[in-house]
Amino acid sequence: MNIYTTITEVRQAVADARATGRGPIGFVPTMGALHAGHGRLVETAAARCGFVVVSVFVNPTQFGPGEDFAAYPRTLVEDAARCEAAGAAAIFAPSVAEIYPQPGLAQVHIQALGETLCGASRPGHFTGVCTVVGKLFNIVGPDQAFFGAKDFQQAAIIRRMAADLNFPVEIVVCPTVREPDGLAMSSRNRYLTPPQRAAAPALFRSLQAAATAIRERRPAANDVRAAIQAQLADELPEGDVDYIELVDPHDLRNVQTTDRPVLIALAVRLGKARLIDNIVVD
Ligand code: PAJ
Repeated sequence: MNIYTTITEVRQAVADARATGRGPIGFVPTMGALHAGHGRLVETAAARCGFVVVSVFVNPTQFGPGEDFAAYPRTLVEDAARCEAAGAAAIFAPSVAEIYPQPGLAQVHIQALGETLCGASRPGHFTGVCTVVGKLFNIVGPDQAFFGAKDFQQAAIIRRMAADLNFPVEIVVCPTVREPDGLAMSSRNRYLTPPQRAAAPALFRSLQAAATAIRERRPAANDVRAAIQAQLADELPEGDVDYIELVDPHDLRNVQTTDRPVLIALAVRLGKARLIDNIVVD
């Protein structure tokens, strides 16, 4: 497995792989600090594609002022070992100057889908995500790109971007990988103190309880939200709820009733971390 830091090198590696019949090309964009959730994406890509590129790039344009860009963990040596074990053929780990040699005047902005849920509390975040993922798609030129359902809104937005802008790439969304106690794996879990980490599985428990209630008696969305809020106040009193929303999984619009498939998504600040999780109830 090779690590490339320039656009020219990674383009050449992909061109060579194609020329020697090693496609399809799979791509897993990441910000590094990789865990088993990322590992699963790479494994899935390697099972479906002949040549898998993983990007490791902490993208400054998707962090807001006061967010954790500077503190975001950078662990390239460990990341490379994990990618290789999971079947990646190459890592693309560019510098900020390689990706943004000049202030970008062109951006990819996805309306509506990017303004709810995480977009409401992180203005500009999804424009930064779409811009960098669009650039990376143009640099790597993958046939298939792999995203995690943990970031459900991000995956929906990227899917829409690829469709609207005719990126010739298939977007594959993979299930959320969890710790044994149910906490969704995240690079930001390492910001938690041991007591916070011990309490954090309350997030997924509250989502599971809500899913059970919906399956059993189809409560109104407001009641589901109130029940999650109450459970978190009880089991995770230190958590500061950013949002708890019930939305249509296709267009991410708020729903009032739960008699059709619904995505329950939440974001909670806990100490230095902002944790997100979601569940789809069919
Ligand atoms: P990052 O947070 O590093 O996540 C990279 C990919 O891994 C995303 O598709 C994310 O949904 C997926 N992922 C993270 N935790 C997961 C888990 N527990 N189970 C399954 N998949 C998981 O998301 C980003 O980086 C950035 O926004 C990026 C798309 C790279 C653009 O900068």
